[in-house]
Amino acid sequence: MADTNMWGKHPAQLVRDAQWFNSGPPPELLRRSFVTPTDLFFTRNHGAVPLIDAADYRLKVEGLVEHPLTLDLETIRTAMPGQSVAATLACAGLRRDELQAHRPIPGEVAWGAEPVSNGVWTGVPLRDVLLSAGVKPGAAHVEFAGMDEVSRHGKTFGFGGSIPLDKALSSEVLLAFDLNGEPLPPAHGFPIRAVVPGCIGARSVKWLSSITVTDHPSPNYFQAHAYKTFPPEITPETVRWEDGLMLHDLPLNAVIWSPLPDEVLDTGPVDVEGWSMASGGNVVERVEVSADGGLSWIDAELTEEGNRWTWRFWSARLSLKPGRQTIVARATDSAGQRQPEFVDGLWNFKGYMNNAWHRVNVEVV
Ligand code: MTE
Repeated sequence: MADTNMWGKHPAQLVRDAQWFNSGPPPELLRRSFVTPTDLFFTRNHGAVPLIDAADYRLKVEGLVEHPLTLDLETIRTAMPGQSVAATLACAGLRRDELQAHRPIPGEVAWGAEPVSNGVWTGVPLRDVLLSAGVKPGAAHVEFAGMDEVSRHGKTFGFGGSIPLDKALSSEVLLAFDLNGEPLPPAHGFPIRAVVPGCIGARSVKWLSSITVTDHPSPNYFQAHAYKTFPPEITPETVRWEDGLMLHDLPLNAVIWSPLPDEVLDTGPVDVEGWSMASGGNVVERVEVSADGGLSWIDAELTEEGNRWTWRFWSARLSLKPGRQTIVARATDSAGQRQPEFVDGLWNFKGYMNNAWHRVNVEVV
């Protein structure tokens, strides 16, 4: 068993991959607080967690800028106006297990609905740093490079990725140094990480070493190959990586975290609870829940407000008939977007972005 304590994690944390410590909280603990305690916050690493000495840390800002910068931790922490942003991070591989049940996806972490957590991040707005460096004409993307080393296909390189310049200049994107009021723990990117609210977790690059303003998306493996999506007919054998679409926004999603799969429940009313998050900075307008596999629906009550970069909690009281029942949840956001009913059309050989209606089978006696 992986040592969850080594990274300051709760002993009940679900470890999906012990080698790099990919872990997430069990739903029964995750649902207890709107802001996820740091010891339950999911971790997604592609290589070993680098242990960085704060005194030696330097962050470079370079590329298409008038004045390249080299910033030390003290300067970032104290000499620049800070800001806190509540934002829910989720991995693009969230709910991959349902895609895998439909068709195999070998070689990828078998995530359920656990790589999601909501944190309060404190740091310096990336916008302020970019404006003080002076963005040159022709700039279109901002590339982040991490200090970790990752091996893929016989090569070793750093983790990285990029976001479009307009997102980088929005007020919610941070160079974060604190999570939930404490310095980032090593597993979450100490001393500085990007936090890109609304985007797949992969763009929130940890252990940041450089920020490069460019006229093109990052050529890093995790932007140009991984974290791309392809239609269901494409396989690892037929893929042409350049044809894939780079993932950016998280999709609209709704997840049931109570009851749990295969829970045995008494006939009669049951409280169904979960979370939902909209895509692209939209707001969740409605969550509907069904007690009969999706034939009829009732509106859930949206309980916690949050902001447009955080999840919302919801709950509904359903009346269940005896027997094996499927509880279903689906959301609609402020852009009128709705979730797809089934995983079939969503399936992709990397197993990203599953936002089909969430189904939980229970036994009612
Ligand atoms: N940054 C670096 N440098 N290396 C990584 O492996 N993983 C990314 C992102 N940033 C990663 C990274 C992915 S895929 C996700 S989902 C988030 O970090 C997870 O952030 P967390 O571990 O703090 O929850």
